[in-house]
Amino acid sequence: MSKKIILSGIQATGRLTLGNYLGAIDNWLTMQEEYECYYMIANLHSLTVRNDPEVLKNNTLKILATYIAAGLNPEKNTLFIQSQVSEHAELGWILDCYTYMGELSRMTQFKDKSQKHSDNINAGLFTYPALMAADILLYQADLVPVGEDQRQHLEITRDLAERFNKIYGETFVIPEAYVRKESARIMGLQDPTSKMSKSATNLNDVIFLEDEPEVILKKFKKAVTDSENKVKFDPENKPGVSNLMQIYAAITNKTMEQIEQEFDGKGYGDFKITVANSVIEKLKPIQDKYQELLNNKEYLEKIYLKGAQEAKKIASKTLRDVKDKIGIL
Ligand code: TRP
Repeated sequence: MSKKIILSGIQATGRLTLGNYLGAIDNWLTMQEEYECYYMIANLHSLTVRNDPEVLKNNTLKILATYIAAGLNPEKNTLFIQSQVSEHAELGWILDCYTYMGELSRMTQFKDKSQKHSDNINAGLFTYPALMAADILLYQADLVPVGEDQRQHLEITRDLAERFNKIYGETFVIPEAYVRKESARIMGLQDPTSKMSKSATNLNDVIFLEDEPEVILKKFKKAVTDSENKVKFDPENKPGVSNLMQIYAAITNKTMEQIEQEFDGKGYGDFKITVANSVIEKLKPIQDKYQELLNNKEYLEKIYLKGAQEAKKIASKTLRDVKDKIGIL
């Protein structure tokens, strides 16, 4: 029996955060044995905002280095850069022509991002979901591990696949979102009511995977809590403390009850330092490996070229089938 296919990706814009690691990459590690996995760096999606070209190039490599440093084995997973498999852009265009303006304008991410970048509401930002659908459908992915915020994009992907299949016959596998309930949703340290975001303006809100130990400690010490001085899991009334507990739980695999007991009678000061140290310790080997990889660009190049070649094998087959069906020579 063949393995189920997984595809996911992270945009190449901005530096990766503890949220990206605990919420996404760390989960991917558990899937590499059981599934056939494709992980890409969505650098074409990054063009929907303005980037410094050098920074974009570097970020692309940094994300690849993070994937590997975090433990994604390039022998077992296909790791590739979206732009290097030209089928993505091609199928993206084709799917644009099967996507309605109405459904695209209902996307919450489009609405949010147009508000944030009101000086650059470009057509790419609008058709972003069709390109994402192409990413997924090219590989006939069964499952797409994503955060809650991407669920709507998965829905439109499924709608597009079904629409296409209905007109032209079985072409695409209908993918499912793989949003793990227990997977960590890490919130900002300064604003624990919204997701930790790599584009946050307050740098104390975010732990970047590249942060030095002293910086991590400092940011945790400054994390917003409350005045009760009691470590208790209550996201509604104690969002700050609950978020720190989530982080600690994700890293140590302890339950909330265990954590509450561990810090019973202790103040937030101790608690914050313990959480910070757990993060520092967890990230240390990843950071070391990451630096080593970034100093070895030749190796990274070898991995992404091999990844693109493997990805292209599958993607080109799907695209050929699509073209044949719609009458594109
Ligand atoms: N839109 C996703 C995000 O911002 C990134 C992404 C692009 C993606 N293409 C994808 C995720 C395909 C899963 C599958 O998080």
